[in-house]
Amino acid sequence: MHRIPEKIHELTVGQLSARSGAAVSALHFYESKGLISSRRTPGNQRRYSRDTLRRVAFIRAAQRVGIPLAMIREALAELPEERTPTRDDWAHLSEVWRSELDERIRQLNRLRDHLTDCIGCGCLSLDSCVLSNPDDVFGERITGSSLLQGGR
Ligand code: FES
Repeated sequence: MHRIPEKIHELTVGQLSARSGAAVSALHFYESKGLISSRRTPGNQRRYSRDTLRRVAFIRAAQRVGIPLAMIREALAELPEERTPTRDDWAHLSEVWRSELDERIRQLNRLRDHLTDCIGCGCLSLDSCVLSNPDDVFGERITGSSLLQGGR
C-alpha cells in the first residue's frame, strides 16, 4: 500500500485511489453523488483533503455490508459540518444499520430456501413465487381471494 508523507495535506485522485483501494472511477462516482468533495486547482485538477481517505474507507466498509449509497450519504450528511466519520460515528451507525442488515439477511435466507422451487419453473407467479414477490408478507399469512375480501 502506498504511504503518503505526513506533510502532504492534499491528495490527487490517483493518490487517493492508490491509498484507498477505490478505483478512480469509483471516486468520481462518489463525488458526483456528494459523498466526497474536492477543490479544483488552477489547472482544474481535483485535490482531496487527507481526511477524505477515512471518508472513502467508511463508504467502502458500508458498501461491503450492503448499505445503499443513499443511506450512506444520509449518514454522512448528518455528521456535524459533514466532518469525516470517527471511530465512534462508525460504531453508532453500524449499530443503527444492524436492523436493516438483519432484515436483508432474513429476506436472502427466504429467497435461498425457496430457490429450489423456482429452478426450472419459470412461472414468476405473484401469488406463489418468492423470486417475483420477495416482500409478500400477506402471502405468508393469507392466500388467494381472502386478501381481496379482507380489503373490502
Ligand atoms: S419461478 Fe415458479 S415458483 Fe418461482
